[in-house]
Parts: sequence; structure tokens; C-alpha cells
Amino acid sequence: MSQQILCLPGDGIGPEIVNETLKVLDTVSQGFSLDIKVSHGLVGGAAIKAEGVPLSDNTLKQAQAADAVLFGAVGGPDWDHLPMEQRPEKGLLQLREGLGLFANLRPAILYPQLAEASSLKPEIVAGLDILIVRELTGGIYFGQPRGIRQLNDGERQGFNTYVYGESEIRRIAKVAFEAAQKRGGRLCSVDKSNVLEVTALWREVVTDMASEYPDVELSHMYVDNAAMQLVRDPRQFDVIVTGNMFGDILSDCAAMLTGSIGMLPSASLNESGKGLYEPVHGSAPDIAGRNRANPLATFLSLAMLLRYSLGEAAAADAIEVAVGHVLDQGLRTPDIASDGCGTVTTAGMGDAVVSALKAK
Ligand code: IPM
Ligand code: MG
Repeated sequence: MSQQILCLPGDGIGPEIVNETLKVLDTVSQGFSLDIKVSHGLVGGAAIKAEGVPLSDNTLKQAQAADAVLFGAVGGPDWDHLPMEQRPEKGLLQLREGLGLFANLRPAILYPQLAEASSLKPEIVAGLDILIVRELTGGIYFGQPRGIRQLNDGERQGFNTYVYGESEIRRIAKVAFEAAQKRGGRLCSVDKSNVLEVTALWREVVTDMASEYPDVELSHMYVDNAAMQLVRDPRQFDVIVTGNMFGDILSDCAAMLTGSIGMLPSASLNESGKGLYEPVHGSAPDIAGRNRANPLATFLSLAMLLRYSLGEAAAADAIEVAVGHVLDQGLRTPDIASDGCGTVTTAGMGDAVVSALKAK
């Protein structure tokens, strides 16, 4: 039976990069005789325009029925004035919640060819290979109560709730411990347990679990220190596990170490291994529609999709090798360009990766 992918390109550069990614998917489907059916839906601002909401019930149902979702990006200045509940970003948050995608894997790997594009010195980032495991359906992003209320004296007050239950901490820590077992065997749990009770519990639960993973060396770090260490000496990390908001912030920081946020893929998985796959970067409205966006993070997200949700590791490997190959050839979109490399367009990068896959 064929496997189903739902494709949700979204806004800004989302449609351009997803379009190129579908060319890559077609090529590996042929090369590896994969039987994959792709359907398409709207999310974010595109869905607000056409359907009045950032994620329709029908699109959520389609996503739940699919084996995996390939996601572009959402948001842009057209919708910035809308109330929180109606914004494009809500569509992504509703997908995460509706599919139970609690485990967000964000690898930050430096391609050796791009060491020069990093804002840090090459000797600090050479060989960088970090995996950030971010909790994605809890914490302050989803905690209740939340809102903006009017106090008796007329002043308005905004409030959110930072909350984690023990079981939520345990299930994300399990993903991270297991990932560390398959990688370098080191796990750093990031919290703010010197100030916030919710993360003091986080530290306690993660510490208690360590005895189940004697082959993993567990350490703990406060989030402010972790941010500093990421730019001071990022290679000290193997796997980082943290809550939703800290993970959001630290993964952007880790992304930049690799030369460009345009290089970083991500997987968001639920208990049954179903997932949503998206580049870590956003919709980049400033360059949307100009054929300048870097599609590589989305290609690499497709590779993660094939590996984690469809069990097609060989096809995933082929995409990753092809990306390395075009970088070897000196092809760069403007975001990762440095002296001596010609820049290519979004479509040019797509064509180059397709050729590299065919040449294999
Ligand atoms: C991310 C993004 C999202 C988040 C936004 C678009 C809701 O920044 O995936 O990191 O904050 O989780
Ligand atoms: Mg983010």
C-alpha cells in the first residue's frame, strides 16, 4: 500500500522551498521505487486567506490520516496585526497539538564546506554535530491559564503559565536518552531550576531516569549558561534536552553556528512515530517570491521524514549525500555564500540536488 504525505507549504518562502523539495521527492521515489502519494493542503496565512482560519478541521483530519506531513513555513506581515488565536502561527501550534507531536528533534550539523559561513571562527565550529531535543506540546506555549486581563486599577496584565507534568518530562527525556545512546553518549538537560519550580521538577525527573541509562553521561545546565556555552564552545554538546520555549530559543542559536538557519531540518514526532517535518527557519517574507531562499533545510527535512516516518533510510541517505555533493561543487544560495562560490537560485539549488541524485 502506498504511503501518504500531506504537503503544507504555508506562507512566504514556504511554497518555493516545498516546490523544490517535491522535485527531490519525485527523484528519490523513482530511484528507490518508493510508492508515496502526496496530497496538498493550506496552513497559516494561506489558509486564513482561502478558508478563514489558520488550520481548518479538514486539513487537520488529512494530517492525522497521513503517514507524515511536510511543512514549509507560516507567518508574515500581512497577518501580524491579528489577535493571537487567529495568527498563522496558530495553525502550526494546532498541528503540533492535534497530532501529539511532543518530540522535536533539531540537529545542528556543520557541513565542513560551510565552516566559513558560520559567524564563529572555523576552529570553534569545525565538526559541530549537536542534536537539540525540544519538548513541543507543553510548557509555557500551551499552559493554562493564559491571556491578557484588566486589573481593578484599569491596568492590563499579560500572563502565561509554565507547567510540566512528570509524565511529560519523562517521555521527552526518554527520547533524548535514547538519542544519546545512539550518538555520542552525552546528554545535557537545560533548565532554570535555580528560579523556576517547574524546571526544578524537570531536573529531578531527568536525574531520576539516569540510572536506566548507565551508558549515557547526564549533565545539567541553566539555560542562560547554555546560551553562552553554545557560542563559546558548542562542541562540548552532544544531545541537549529542554522544554518548549528554551528549545525554541537555543535551536535558533545552534542553527546559526552551522552557517545558516537555512541549513537546519527538523522532525516533530508523536508516540507512534508519525511526524511533521519542517525547516527550522521561518517564512522569510523579505525574500519571498524572489527565488533566493535556501531550500536545503527542507530537503534535509524530507530526508528525516523518509528515515523516521516512512522507514526509507537509503533514500534519506541519498538526499543527505546529494546535499553534501552540491556544496562540494561550490553551489550556494545567497544566505550561505562566501567568496569564491557562485550563488544559485532556489530552483537552481533544487535542480542541482536532483542532478546529483540522478548521477548516483
Ligand atoms: C519554531 C517557530 C515556532 C515556535 C513559531 C512559528 C510558532 O519559531 O518552530 O521554532 O515558536 O515554535
Ligand atoms: Mg523558533
